Amino acid sequence: MSRIGILTAGGDCPGLNAVIRAVVGYAASRDTMVIGFEDGFAGFVEDRSRELFPDGCGAILPLGGSVLGCSGANPFRQASGIEAGRRVFERHDLRCLIVVGGNTSMGTAYAAQQAGISTVGVPKTIDNDVAGTEVTVGFDTAVNTATEAIDRLRTTAESHDRIMVVEVMGRDVGWIAVTAGIAGGADVVLTPEEPVRVSDVVETISADLRRGKDFSVVVVGEGCRFEGEESQTGLEPAGEGAFRLGGVGHRLAGMLAEATGLETRVTSLGHIQRGGSPSAADRILATRFGIRAVDLALDGPHGVMVAVSGGSLVLRPLQEVAGRLKQVDPALVQIARAIVA
Ligand code: F6P
Repeated sequence: MSRIGILTAGGDCPGLNAVIRAVVGYAASRDTMVIGFEDGFAGFVEDRSRELFPDGCGAILPLGGSVLGCSGANPFRQASGIEAGRRVFERHDLRCLIVVGGNTSMGTAYAAQQAGISTVGVPKTIDNDVAGTEVTVGFDTAVNTATEAIDRLRTTAESHDRIMVVEVMGRDVGWIAVTAGIAGGADVVLTPEEPVRVSDVVETISADLRRGKDFSVVVVGEGCRFEGEESQTGLEPAGEGAFRLGGVGHRLAGMLAEATGLETRVTSLGHIQRGGSPSAADRILATRFGIRAVDLALDGPHGVMVAVSGGSLVLRPLQEVAGRLKQVDPALVQIARAIVA
Protein backbone atom coordinates (compact mmCIF):
# COMPACT_ATOMS: atom_id res chain seq x y z
CA MET A 1 0.00 0.00 0.00
CA SER A 2 1.32 3.47 -0.94
CA ARG A 3 1.20 6.38 1.48
CA ILE A 4 0.66 10.08 0.75
CA GLY A 5 0.23 13.10 3.04
CA ILE A 6 -2.12 16.08 2.98
CA LEU A 7 -2.23 19.41 4.82
CA THR A 8 -4.27 22.62 4.55
CA ALA A 9 -2.05 25.70 4.79
CA GLY A 10 -2.78 29.44 5.10
CA GLY A 11 -6.22 30.84 5.91
CA ASP A 12 -9.21 28.53 5.70
CA CYS A 13 -11.96 28.71 3.09
CA PRO A 14 -15.06 26.75 2.13
CA GLY A 15 -14.21 23.58 0.19
CA LEU A 16 -11.08 22.42 2.05
CA ASN A 17 -12.92 19.44 3.51
CA ALA A 18 -14.27 18.60 0.06
CA VAL A 19 -10.65 18.38 -1.15
CA ILE A 20 -9.69 16.17 1.82
CA ARG A 21 -12.70 13.91 1.26
CA ALA A 22 -11.89 13.56 -2.47
CA VAL A 23 -8.22 12.82 -1.76
CA VAL A 24 -8.96 10.21 0.90
CA GLY A 25 -11.81 8.55 -1.02
CA TYR A 26 -9.99 8.40 -4.34
CA ALA A 27 -6.70 7.33 -2.75
CA ALA A 28 -8.53 4.36 -1.19
CA SER A 29 -9.61 3.29 -4.69
CA ARG A 30 -5.91 3.28 -5.61
CA ASP A 31 -4.93 1.25 -2.55
CA THR A 32 -3.29 4.26 -0.91
CA MET A 33 -3.33 5.41 2.72
CA VAL A 34 -3.60 9.16 3.39
CA ILE A 35 -1.91 10.77 6.40
CA GLY A 36 -3.43 14.10 7.42
CA PHE A 37 -1.20 16.70 9.10
CA GLU A 38 -2.73 19.27 11.44
CA ASP A 39 -2.44 23.05 11.12
CA GLY A 40 -0.57 23.28 7.84
CA PHE A 41 3.21 23.07 7.71
CA ALA A 42 3.46 23.72 11.48
CA GLY A 43 1.81 20.37 12.22
CA PHE A 44 3.77 18.67 9.47
CA VAL A 45 7.22 19.43 10.90
CA GLU A 46 5.94 18.56 14.41
CA ASP A 47 4.38 15.35 13.04
CA ARG A 48 0.94 16.06 14.42
CA SER A 49 -0.73 13.55 12.17
CA ARG A 50 -3.38 10.87 11.82
CA GLU A 51 -4.43 8.31 9.26
CA LEU A 52 -7.53 9.31 7.33
CA PHE A 53 -10.10 6.71 6.22
CA PRO A 54 -12.89 7.08 3.65
CA ASP A 55 -15.64 6.09 6.11
CA GLY A 56 -14.52 8.88 8.46
CA CYS A 57 -14.49 11.43 5.64
CA GLY A 58 -17.86 10.78 4.03
CA ALA A 59 -19.70 13.40 6.04
CA ILE A 60 -17.22 16.26 5.73
CA LEU A 61 -17.99 17.19 2.10
CA PRO A 62 -20.43 20.02 2.99
CA LEU A 63 -18.52 21.31 6.04
CA GLY A 64 -16.74 24.66 6.08
CA GLY A 65 -13.25 25.11 7.49
CA SER A 66 -10.77 22.23 7.55
CA VAL A 67 -10.97 19.14 9.77
CA LEU A 68 -7.17 19.24 9.74
CA GLY A 69 -6.95 22.84 10.91
CA CYS A 70 -5.11 25.65 9.11
CA SER A 71 -2.04 27.77 9.71
CA GLY A 72 0.05 30.13 7.63
CA ALA A 73 3.24 29.28 9.54
CA ASN A 74 6.30 28.56 7.40
CA PRO A 75 8.74 26.46 9.45
CA PHE A 76 10.90 25.96 6.34
CA ARG A 77 12.35 29.43 6.82
CA GLN A 78 14.75 27.74 9.26
CA ALA A 79 17.13 24.95 8.26
CA SER A 80 15.97 23.03 11.35
CA GLY A 81 12.40 23.16 10.01
CA ILE A 82 13.44 21.69 6.69
CA GLU A 83 15.37 18.93 8.47
CA ALA A 84 12.37 18.15 10.69
CA GLY A 85 10.10 18.07 7.62
CA ARG A 86 12.41 15.64 5.83
CA ARG A 87 12.42 13.33 8.85
CA VAL A 88 8.60 13.32 9.04
CA PHE A 89 8.33 12.65 5.30
CA GLU A 90 10.68 9.67 5.63
CA ARG A 91 9.21 8.38 8.90
CA HIS A 92 5.77 8.07 7.26
CA ASP A 93 7.29 6.67 4.07
CA LEU A 94 5.33 9.20 2.00
CA ARG A 95 5.39 9.21 -1.78
CA CYS A 96 4.24 12.84 -1.83
CA LEU A 97 2.67 15.58 0.29
CA ILE A 98 -0.46 17.28 -1.09
CA VAL A 99 -0.42 20.95 -0.07
CA VAL A 100 -3.78 22.69 -0.22
CA GLY A 101 -2.93 26.39 -0.01
CA GLY A 102 -2.79 29.89 -1.45
CA ASN A 103 0.07 31.60 -3.26
CA THR A 104 2.30 31.91 -0.18
CA SER A 105 1.76 28.24 0.65
CA MET A 106 2.60 27.28 -2.93
CA GLY A 107 5.94 29.01 -2.24
CA THR A 108 6.38 26.87 0.87
CA ALA A 109 5.43 23.77 -1.14
CA TYR A 110 8.10 24.70 -3.67
CA ALA A 111 10.68 25.14 -0.89
CA ALA A 112 9.73 21.70 0.41
CA GLN A 113 10.04 20.19 -3.06
CA GLN A 114 13.51 21.66 -3.44
CA ALA A 115 14.47 20.22 -0.06
CA GLY A 116 13.54 16.69 -1.16
CA ILE A 117 9.98 16.60 0.19
CA SER A 118 7.93 15.85 -2.91
CA THR A 119 4.83 18.02 -3.12
CA VAL A 120 1.76 18.61 -5.26
CA GLY A 121 -0.21 21.83 -4.81
CA VAL A 122 -3.98 22.39 -4.79
CA PRO A 123 -4.90 26.09 -5.00
CA LYS A 124 -7.43 27.43 -2.51
CA THR A 125 -8.36 30.89 -1.26
CA ILE A 126 -11.49 32.99 -1.29
CA ASP A 127 -9.34 35.78 -2.80
CA ASN A 128 -8.84 33.84 -6.10
CA ASP A 129 -5.40 35.38 -6.43
CA VAL A 130 -3.23 32.30 -7.05
CA ALA A 131 -1.30 32.71 -10.29
CA GLY A 132 -1.67 30.10 -13.01
CA THR A 133 -5.27 29.07 -12.36
CA GLU A 134 -8.54 30.65 -13.40
CA VAL A 135 -10.16 29.72 -10.14
CA THR A 136 -9.31 28.56 -6.61
CA VAL A 137 -11.30 26.48 -4.15
CA GLY A 138 -13.38 28.77 -1.91
CA PHE A 139 -13.79 31.68 -4.28
CA ASP A 140 -17.23 30.77 -5.64
CA THR A 141 -18.71 30.37 -2.16
CA ALA A 142 -17.29 33.72 -1.02
CA VAL A 143 -18.71 35.44 -4.10
CA ASN A 144 -22.12 33.90 -3.42
CA THR A 145 -21.99 35.11 0.19
CA ALA A 146 -20.97 38.62 -0.83
CA THR A 147 -23.61 38.72 -3.58
CA GLU A 148 -26.35 37.76 -1.15
CA ALA A 149 -25.17 40.49 1.22
CA ILE A 150 -25.21 43.08 -1.58
CA ASP A 151 -28.74 42.02 -2.55
CA ARG A 152 -29.90 42.49 1.04
CA LEU A 153 -28.14 45.81 1.46
CA ARG A 154 -29.60 47.16 -1.78
CA THR A 155 -33.21 46.86 -0.60
CA THR A 156 -32.58 48.63 2.68
CA ALA A 157 -30.41 51.27 0.96
CA GLU A 158 -33.27 52.02 -1.41
CA SER A 159 -35.89 52.19 1.35
CA HIS A 160 -33.86 54.70 3.37
CA ASP A 161 -32.13 56.68 0.61
CA ARG A 162 -28.72 55.73 1.92
CA ILE A 163 -25.30 54.90 0.59
CA MET A 164 -24.32 51.39 1.67
CA VAL A 165 -20.59 50.76 1.63
CA VAL A 166 -19.83 47.02 1.56
CA GLU A 167 -16.26 46.08 2.45
CA VAL A 168 -15.32 42.69 1.05
CA MET A 169 -12.18 40.57 1.48
CA GLY A 170 -9.31 40.48 -0.97
CA ARG A 171 -5.93 41.40 0.46
CA ASP A 172 -4.21 42.42 -2.72
CA VAL A 173 -6.76 41.83 -5.43
CA GLY A 174 -10.38 42.66 -6.15
CA TRP A 175 -11.77 39.37 -7.49
CA ILE A 176 -14.49 39.15 -4.84
CA ALA A 177 -15.29 42.86 -5.15
CA VAL A 178 -15.65 42.82 -8.90
CA THR A 179 -17.48 39.52 -9.35
CA ALA A 180 -19.88 40.01 -6.44
CA GLY A 181 -20.25 43.62 -7.58
CA ILE A 182 -21.36 42.48 -11.03
CA ALA A 183 -23.58 39.70 -9.66
CA GLY A 184 -25.20 42.03 -7.12
CA GLY A 185 -25.48 45.03 -9.47
CA ALA A 186 -23.39 47.33 -7.26
CA ASP A 187 -23.31 50.98 -8.31
CA VAL A 188 -19.61 51.41 -7.56
CA VAL A 189 -16.91 48.72 -7.45
CA LEU A 190 -13.44 49.53 -6.08
CA THR A 191 -10.56 47.07 -6.32
CA PRO A 192 -7.09 47.11 -4.73
CA GLU A 193 -5.53 46.98 -8.19
CA GLU A 194 -6.05 50.72 -8.64
CA PRO A 195 -5.94 53.55 -6.10
CA VAL A 196 -9.34 54.89 -5.06
CA ARG A 197 -10.08 58.37 -6.38
CA VAL A 198 -12.84 59.54 -4.03
CA SER A 199 -13.83 62.38 -6.37
CA ASP A 200 -14.72 59.79 -9.05
CA VAL A 201 -16.93 57.86 -6.64
CA VAL A 202 -18.63 61.09 -5.55
CA GLU A 203 -19.21 62.00 -9.19
CA THR A 204 -20.85 58.62 -9.93
CA ILE A 205 -23.19 58.98 -6.95
CA SER A 206 -23.91 62.63 -7.77
CA ALA A 207 -24.81 61.70 -11.36
CA ASP A 208 -27.25 59.12 -9.95
CA LEU A 209 -28.72 61.78 -7.65
CA ARG A 210 -29.18 64.19 -10.59
CA ARG A 211 -31.26 61.62 -12.41
CA GLY A 212 -33.36 60.93 -9.33
CA LYS A 213 -31.68 57.88 -7.85
CA ASP A 214 -30.99 58.67 -4.21
CA PHE A 215 -29.29 55.54 -2.94
CA SER A 216 -26.12 53.68 -3.80
CA VAL A 217 -24.34 50.41 -3.11
CA VAL A 218 -20.57 50.82 -3.09
CA VAL A 219 -18.41 47.67 -2.96
CA VAL A 220 -14.85 48.23 -1.77
CA GLY A 221 -12.09 45.62 -1.49
CA GLU A 222 -10.47 45.60 1.97
CA GLY A 223 -7.06 46.04 0.33
CA CYS A 224 -7.93 49.28 -1.49
CA ARG A 225 -5.58 52.24 -1.11
CA PHE A 226 -6.68 55.86 -1.46
CA GLU A 227 -4.99 57.88 -4.18
CA GLY A 228 -2.10 59.85 -2.72
CA GLU A 229 -1.61 57.45 0.20
CA GLU A 230 1.35 55.09 0.42
CA SER A 231 -0.31 52.19 2.17
CA GLN A 232 -3.55 50.32 2.64
CA THR A 233 -5.88 50.97 5.58
CA GLY A 234 -5.49 48.94 8.79
CA LEU A 235 -2.19 47.14 8.55
CA GLU A 236 -2.07 45.81 12.10
CA PRO A 237 0.91 43.45 12.55
CA ALA A 238 -0.38 39.85 12.58
CA GLY A 239 2.83 37.84 13.18
CA GLU A 240 5.41 36.27 10.82
CA GLY A 241 5.64 39.54 8.84
CA ALA A 242 1.90 39.49 8.01
CA PHE A 243 -0.47 42.44 8.40
CA ARG A 244 -4.19 42.63 9.13
CA LEU A 245 -6.25 44.92 6.92
CA GLY A 246 -9.55 46.62 7.71
CA GLY A 247 -11.24 49.97 7.98
CA VAL A 248 -11.15 51.22 4.40
CA GLY A 249 -14.95 50.98 4.20
CA HIS A 250 -15.44 53.22 7.23
CA ARG A 251 -12.98 55.80 5.95
CA LEU A 252 -14.61 55.84 2.54
CA ALA A 253 -18.10 56.11 4.06
CA GLY A 254 -17.10 59.21 6.02
CA MET A 255 -15.77 60.88 2.89
CA LEU A 256 -18.86 59.99 0.83
CA ALA A 257 -21.31 61.17 3.49
CA GLU A 258 -19.55 64.50 3.70
CA ALA A 259 -19.33 64.99 -0.06
CA THR A 260 -22.83 63.85 -1.04
CA GLY A 261 -24.91 64.70 2.04
CA LEU A 262 -26.43 61.21 1.92
CA GLU A 263 -26.61 59.13 5.08
CA THR A 264 -23.95 56.46 4.68
CA ARG A 265 -23.62 53.11 6.42
CA VAL A 266 -20.92 50.46 6.32
CA THR A 267 -21.04 46.67 6.36
CA SER A 268 -17.74 44.83 6.56
CA LEU A 269 -18.39 41.22 5.56
CA GLY A 270 -15.10 39.96 6.97
CA HIS A 271 -14.78 36.29 7.83
CA ILE A 272 -18.42 35.57 7.01
CA GLN A 273 -17.02 35.19 3.49
CA ARG A 274 -14.58 32.51 4.66
CA GLY A 275 -16.88 30.38 6.79
CA GLY A 276 -19.73 28.01 6.08
CA SER A 277 -20.66 25.33 3.65
CA PRO A 278 -19.06 25.35 0.18
CA SER A 279 -21.17 26.02 -2.91
CA ALA A 280 -21.86 23.22 -5.40
CA ALA A 281 -19.27 24.74 -7.77
CA ASP A 282 -16.62 24.71 -5.02
CA ARG A 283 -17.43 21.11 -4.08
CA ILE A 284 -17.08 20.03 -7.70
CA LEU A 285 -13.82 21.96 -8.18
CA ALA A 286 -12.44 20.55 -4.92
CA THR A 287 -13.31 17.02 -6.03
CA ARG A 288 -11.71 17.45 -9.46
CA PHE A 289 -8.55 18.93 -7.90
CA GLY A 290 -8.41 16.25 -5.20
CA ILE A 291 -8.62 13.33 -7.63
CA ARG A 292 -5.98 14.80 -9.95
CA ALA A 293 -3.71 15.56 -7.00
CA VAL A 294 -3.80 11.91 -5.91
CA ASP A 295 -2.94 10.72 -9.44
CA LEU A 296 -0.02 13.15 -9.49
CA ALA A 297 1.11 12.17 -6.00
CA LEU A 298 1.24 8.50 -7.06
CA ASP A 299 2.32 8.76 -10.70
CA GLY A 300 4.09 12.15 -10.87
CA PRO A 301 5.13 14.64 -11.88
CA HIS A 302 5.71 16.26 -8.48
CA GLY A 303 6.56 19.92 -7.86
CA VAL A 304 3.41 21.02 -9.70
CA MET A 305 0.09 22.64 -8.84
CA VAL A 306 -3.23 21.54 -10.29
CA ALA A 307 -4.99 24.43 -12.00
CA VAL A 308 -7.89 25.37 -14.25
CA SER A 309 -7.38 26.83 -17.71
CA GLY A 310 -10.25 27.26 -20.15
CA GLY A 311 -12.35 25.16 -17.78
CA SER A 312 -9.99 22.15 -18.03
CA LEU A 313 -7.52 20.84 -15.47
CA VAL A 314 -3.88 21.64 -16.25
CA LEU A 315 -0.58 21.51 -14.34
CA ARG A 316 1.66 24.44 -13.41
CA PRO A 317 5.20 24.13 -12.06
CA LEU A 318 5.22 25.30 -8.42
CA GLN A 319 8.23 27.42 -9.26
CA GLU A 320 6.09 29.48 -11.66
CA VAL A 321 3.21 30.11 -9.27
CA ALA A 322 5.03 30.36 -5.92
CA GLY A 323 4.17 33.64 -4.23
CA ARG A 324 2.81 35.19 -7.44
CA LEU A 325 -0.46 37.13 -7.46
CA LYS A 326 -3.16 36.93 -10.09
CA GLN A 327 -4.75 40.34 -10.45
CA VAL A 328 -8.30 41.04 -11.55
CA ASP A 329 -9.07 40.86 -15.24
CA PRO A 330 -9.50 44.53 -16.32
CA ALA A 331 -12.31 43.45 -18.70
CA LEU A 332 -14.35 42.37 -15.68
CA VAL A 333 -13.76 45.74 -14.01
CA GLN A 334 -15.07 47.44 -17.14
CA ILE A 335 -18.17 45.24 -17.08
CA ALA A 336 -18.74 46.10 -13.41
CA ARG A 337 -18.67 49.79 -14.31
CA ALA A 338 -20.45 49.70 -17.67
CA ILE A 339 -24.06 49.68 -16.56
CA VAL A 340 -26.01 52.67 -15.27
CA ALA A 341 -28.93 51.32 -13.25
O1 F6P B 1 -6.31 35.48 2.02
C1 F6P B 1 -7.60 35.28 2.41
C2 F6P B 1 -8.02 36.32 3.40
O2 F6P B 1 -9.34 36.01 3.74
C3 F6P B 1 -7.88 37.76 2.94
O3 F6P B 1 -8.90 38.15 2.10
C4 F6P B 1 -7.84 38.46 4.27
O4 F6P B 1 -7.18 39.72 4.20
C5 F6P B 1 -7.06 37.53 5.12
O5 F6P B 1 -7.27 36.24 4.59
C6 F6P B 1 -7.47 37.57 6.56
O6 F6P B 1 -6.63 36.69 7.25
P1 F6P B 1 -6.74 36.46 8.83
O7 F6P B 1 -7.97 35.65 9.06
O8 F6P B 1 -5.50 35.71 9.14
O9 F6P B 1 -6.80 37.80 9.46
